Amino acid sequence: MSDRSEGSGRDARAGTGGADHGGGQEPVAWSGPEGARAFAAVEAATDWLLGYPFVFRSLARWVGSGSVLVDYGCGPGKVADRAARQLGAKVLGVDTSPEMLALARGSGTAVAEYHLVTDGRAACLADGSADAVMCNHVLASLPTAEAVLAVFREIRRILRPGGPFVLLATDPACSGREYASLSIGDPGRAYGPGDELPVRLRRTDGSWQTMPNHAWPVDFYPALLARAGFADLVQHRPTVDEALGLPGLVDPDHAAGRTWSAERSAPPLVITTALAV
Ligand SMILES: C[S@@+](CC[C@H](N)C(=O)[O-])C[C@H]1O[C@@H](n2cnc3c(N)ncnc32)[C@H](O)[C@@H]1O
Repeated sequence: MSDRSEGSGRDARAGTGGADHGGGQEPVAWSGPEGARAFAAVEAATDWLLGYPFVFRSLARWVGSGSVLVDYGCGPGKVADRAARQLGAKVLGVDTSPEMLALARGSGTAVAEYHLVTDGRAACLADGSADAVMCNHVLASLPTAEAVLAVFREIRRILRPGGPFVLLATDPACSGREYASLSIGDPGRAYGPGDELPVRLRRTDGSWQTMPNHAWPVDFYPALLARAGFADLVQHRPTVDEALGLPGLVDPDHAAGRTWSAERSAPPLVITTALAV
C-alpha cells in the first residue's frame, strides 16, 4: 500500500479536482487527459457494492424504457453505460471535461450519449427535458458552496417538475478507514464544508492514487437542495447486509470477492434523493 499522505494537502484546481499518480509526481487535473485516464483506471469496488446499484434501484421507481435519464458529471461513462443497459432508459451523460467525454464515447460498447457542460450549463438539454438525473461523486471536486448550488440549479433546470434527482456521495465523517477501493481523509480529523479532503482510490492494478477533493458533509445538502428548487428529500446509507440481501441488486461474483469489513463497520456512501418542485 502506498504512503497515506501521498499527494494530500495540495490545492485542487477549482471545479476540476486532481489526481496524483504516486512516485512523487505532480498531481494532474481530473479534467485533463492524464486525469481522465487515471480516473478511468480506478476500480470502484465499494461503489459497485454500496453505491451505484442503490442509485439504479432508486431510479428504477421512476425510469424505464422511453425515459430520459441524465448522468450529470458522467466521467468516463462506465456508470452511464451500465444505467442505460440496466434501466432501459435513454441515458445522456454530461461533463465539463472533454477528455472524460472522449473516453466515454470511445469505450466501444457505449450505449449512452455524451455532451459537454460549458460555463456551468448543459446547453444540449432544454428546460424540463430530463425525466430523472443522477450525479455520482461530482460534488467532491467543487471547492465552494456556491459551486455546489450552481450544479444543483442547473440540474433543477433540466429536470421536469416532479422528476427525481439522485445524488451519490462519500460521507466525509468516514475519514481514516480503508475501504476496499477508497479511503478518505486522515484518521481522527473532522472535515467541515468545503475543507480540502484527500481521497485515495484503488486502481484496477491494485495500486492507489490520491486526489485532493473537498468535504461536503451529508447534512449540508438539504438546505442547498431546497434553495435550488427541490423537495421531498430522503437520505439513505446502504449497508452490506442490504446489498447482499437483495437478490439481483449486486453482481454476486463482485459481492463474493471480499470480506467488506470496513464497509460493514462504517458504510461510507450516502444516497440523497429529492424531487424537482
Ligand atoms: C470523480 S468523477 C465521477 C465520474 C462518474 N460520475 C462516476 O461516478 O464514475 C467526477 C466527474 O465530475 C466532472 N465534473 C466536475 N465538475 C463538474 C461540473 N460542475 N459539472 C459537470 N461535471 C463536473 C469531472 O470532470 C469528472 O468527470
